[in-house]
Amino acid sequence: MIDIHHHLLPALDDGSVSLETSVLMVEAAVADGISRIVCTPHASHHWRFDPAVNAAKLAELKAVLPPGIEDRIQFGLGCDFHLSHENIEDALAHSTKYTINGGQYLLVELPDFGFSANMRDVFYNLRMAGMIPILTHPERNPTLIEKPDRMIDWLRDGLLVQITANSLTGRFGKICERMAHQLLSDQWVHFIATDAHNTQSRPPLMRQACEIVAKKYGDEAAQRLCVANPLAVFEDRQFPEQPEPKRVFDEEEGRAASWWRRLFRS
Ligand SMILES: [Fe+2]
Repeated sequence: MIDIHHHLLPALDDGSVSLETSVLMVEAAVADGISRIVCTPHASHHWRFDPAVNAAKLAELKAVLPPGIEDRIQFGLGCDFHLSHENIEDALAHSTKYTINGGQYLLVELPDFGFSANMRDVFYNLRMAGMIPILTHPERNPTLIEKPDRMIDWLRDGLLVQITANSLTGRFGKICERMAHQLLSDQWVHFIATDAHNTQSRPPLMRQACEIVAKKYGDEAAQRLCVANPLAVFEDRQFPEQPEPKRVFDEEEGRAASWWRRLFRS
């Protein structure tokens, strides 16, 4: 499994508090069957984001991993990008500063409340600047829980969606769990990721969630959401073909060309 959202780097944000905690998080992830982790510290008003600092922190972490672990895991760098005006302006000018492994894919987090009516334009502008936005955990966003159909226009335009593994295990409560299943049933989800912050309350585990997906939606879905799609992002490859999202296009549009063909076919 490949985890594209993980606050692993120590003492940068509200994720890992120390190098020791980061080592424990890597060990837990490897034991769970995770083979690649993208380190995604917050990039927001609150947390300073500096790719050089992040790269140095990752090198420091790799240097202290116990023998044998490093062969079993690869690391990437990215960020948990908050959609503030300043961040957006900076990303439009320097896209690869924020994207996963300096490629095209960008994790984006919406504010819980009061995001602007022009999000469609924001995502469009990011795409025009060469980025492919991946919306993080809509199932935990109160505004989207209230009105999930606000995502329809964004999905039509090619927004990709990541849900949190522990939303499926019930750790974030019944409402988030229900919303996560609604998104999965509608085929609006492209990635499961841990969004790990520590070893206890927000652990770096995704096997249980992957098994829940396999049981309810089939092995192919679990493989796609936990392995194939995140691997394409990790390696910055073209996004793989996906099943058609439900309730996004009317029948006639659907017959013309699939969502994936319109957006990602080269
Ligand atoms: Fe996050």
